[in-house]
Amino acid sequence: MSLALWTNCQAATMDAPAARPYGLIEEAALVVEGDRLAWVGPRDDLPDDLLERCEITHDGGGALVTPGLIDCHTHLVWGGNRAQEFEQRLLGASYEDIARAGGGIASTVRATRAASDDELFESAARRLQALREDGVTTVEIKSGYGLSLAHEARCLRVARRLGAGEGVSVRTTFLGAHAVPPEFTGRPDAYIDEVVAMLPALQAEGLVDAVDAFCERIGFSREQTERVFVAARAAGLPVKLHAEQLSDMDGAALAAGHQALSCDHLEWLSEAGAQAMARAGTVAVLLPGAYYFLRETKLPPIDLLRRLGVPMAVSTDCNPGTSPCTSLLLMLNMACTLFRLTPEEALAGATREAARALGLADRGRLAAGLRADFVLWDVAHPAELCYAIGARPCRATVFEGVLR
Ligand code: NIG
Ligand code: FE
Repeated sequence: MSLALWTNCQAATMDAPAARPYGLIEEAALVVEGDRLAWVGPRDDLPDDLLERCEITHDGGGALVTPGLIDCHTHLVWGGNRAQEFEQRLLGASYEDIARAGGGIASTVRATRAASDDELFESAARRLQALREDGVTTVEIKSGYGLSLAHEARCLRVARRLGAGEGVSVRTTFLGAHAVPPEFTGRPDAYIDEVVAMLPALQAEGLVDAVDAFCERIGFSREQTERVFVAARAAGLPVKLHAEQLSDMDGAALAAGHQALSCDHLEWLSEAGAQAMARAGTVAVLLPGAYYFLRETKLPPIDLLRRLGVPMAVSTDCNPGTSPCTSLLLMLNMACTLFRLTPEEALAGATREAARALGLADRGRLAAGLRADFVLWDVAHPAELCYAIGARPCRATVFEGVLR
């Protein structure tokens, strides 16, 4: 197979970060073989025999190269929007008030069920395009606005169809336990039976890479969440959890007990919950867009997570109710300004640690053997990716070895 060489660039490999911040190589070379990286290192160290095998040479034009960004928590497929609830919240109603009055997730469920497959696809494709223009090459997409077998399947098929397009890898997560649908009002346990019953059919159709739930006062109890987890684990699927977003439900410890890939949000995470995550190697997915948009004041316990060595990822949480955001770079900025992550932690959160939150060992760093998914940025230093607000520094992406 022919090799392609990329030179005249610096590379933030996000590999072995302790040795060099960002794993930065100032005069870098990357060798691509098919859809994989064959070699990454300082240009001067490139072995002659490898250089001789390179049939194509790409000039990086002085760009900074990073791994393709990974948005590891989105609800990208939905109908309608919630701008009027945004207005209500500005007039004083809380997110929980609106949910209890039949709005919130339930209102998006109504709009999603009413939308055609093509309408869902087109609106999600526009959001996905915006993410890609910000350097995203892998995106996780949750269901959770269908809440019946037919509608959850429809949304997950749309997600798979988005991934069948060019230039982006899609991972799907079944979030049937997002809210109680109208047919099950007042019968959450019966709805959990239904969620458990949906799983085999969705899995058999190849629509599920992981299973998520919303453990919250306005979502599901610990016991209900655990029933979903037990079913997922019995089916051989990894789990993750919307945990401790609005209150401390002790959901993180529950999820960690089921070897969760990640717990997400975590504003109300307790020390015991963080310890359980550390023991299980569960990633903390931080969602500064939702924190900002709901005007939360309680910060996730970043120092505690750092002290315990819990890996931290950063994601958009792109959804119509709490984070209508399609810029992962903006989330990196907010992770630094609002949550006080360092720019290096934030960038790792959208690359190396985001890959870990999805259970993917083949991406998130620039290293030989991993997928050749990377971004060429018009910046001189990686901190600029977190520093600027609204800049569009993504010059080009390479996906599976191909320049897009
Ligand atoms: O990640 N909290 C639960 N799920 C979403 C919001 C869903 C919605 O409001 O539509 C979240 O914040
Ligand atoms: Fe979410």
